[in-house]
Formats: sequence, C-alpha cells, structure tokens
Amino acid sequence: MKKIAVFASGSGSNFQAIINVIREGLLPAEISLLVCDQPGAFAIERAKANQIPCFIFSAKDYPSKADYETEIIALLKDVDLIVLAGYMRLVGPTLLKEYEGRIVNIHPSLLPAFPGKDAIGQALAAKANWTGVTIHFVDEGMDTGPVIVQERIRIEENETRESLQKKIQLTEHKLYPSILHMLLTQGVVINDEKARTY
Ligand code: GRF
Repeated sequence: MKKIAVFASGSGSNFQAIINVIREGLLPAEISLLVCDQPGAFAIERAKANQIPCFIFSAKDYPSKADYETEIIALLKDVDLIVLAGYMRLVGPTLLKEYEGRIVNIHPSLLPAFPGKDAIGQALAAKANWTGVTIHFVDEGMDTGPVIVQERIRIEENETRESLQKKIQLTEHKLYPSILHMLLTQGVVINDEKARTY
C-alpha cells in the first residue's frame, strides 16, 4: 500500500476529498500524516475524525525553515508522495532535496497565470474569461514546477467570488484524487523524462 502525507494550512476540503476516495476503496493509498502549520485549521479536525496522525507546528517556534523541515522529514518515514493541499508555505531546499520529484501541489488557476495568494481574486480582478485548476510538481519557486494537468473553468459575466470558488472546488475535489491515482498506480511522464513511478 502506497503511503502519502498531506500538507494543509486551512479548511482541508481537498484533504477531505482524498480521505473520501481512500475510504471508498478508489485510491489504493494510506494517509500516514497530516502536516499543518496553522494550529486552528479545520484540516486538523478532519484528520482527528479519521484517525490520521498530525504534525501541527508554528513556524515562528523554529529558528529556520530548515529546522522544522528536518523535523517533518523524520516524521514522514519515507512516504511515497507528499501532497500539498492548501499549504501556504514555500517548500524549502531541505524538504525538496529529500523528496525531489515526489511533491505535488494543486493551485486554483491556469498557471503560470495568477500564481501565489488569492488566485481566484486575481482572476476576477483581471476580468479574465477563463481560469482553472493546475496540478504540478513542486520546485523551489512559487507555483512554478512542471505541470501534470490543467482543467479550464469559464468565468461568466455575472460570476461572483463565491460562485467561482464553488466551481473551482468541485473541479479540484475530482481532479486531485484522480491524478493521485494515476501517480500512485502508473507514474507519469513529464517533459519527455522517463516515467516516474511512486
Ligand atoms: C485550494 O483552492 C487549493 O487549490 C489551494 O488552496 C485551496 C485549499 O483549499 N492551493 P482546501 O483547504 O483544500 O479547502
């Protein structure tokens, strides 16, 4: 059975979508750890309700990113894949070196458009006709790693933040589990490199 760790900072609705598909027997994986940098985040409640071990930390309690990432690495016990799901921190060189090519992220825009915080607000402010969801490998940049998949979502004339967010979340909750299934069962080919399997 493949082991994954989920990193989240907020509500954890993507985390919940992954829990659900595993429970339904549709994703042959086990979530061995939730890593959360916001002690009040609802994602922690979801982990507790599903008996998933948590590592909860505050970055300010550590002298550096390298220090908390070293602690996280010890707890991960060599998981197959790290799944960022609303984790609001840049992954540093310590964790990247250890898990190179084995960290994925989901972002609510068609990258490289609208990277960073509040991608939905950025798309609305730009009066874009389209936005979407991107799943990509994580590198040292902000939402810059190799893209695995993108799905387009139309922004209607009368679109509100709430309606757009709802459409994006519906897409995310289907797309992330299906891409995790592909990564964990078949691997993936990116930029003509040989297939990566996990
Ligand atoms: C998602 O929109 C994801 O794309 C972004 O952060 C949000 C997390 O939402 N990276 P949730 O915590 O999974 O509900």
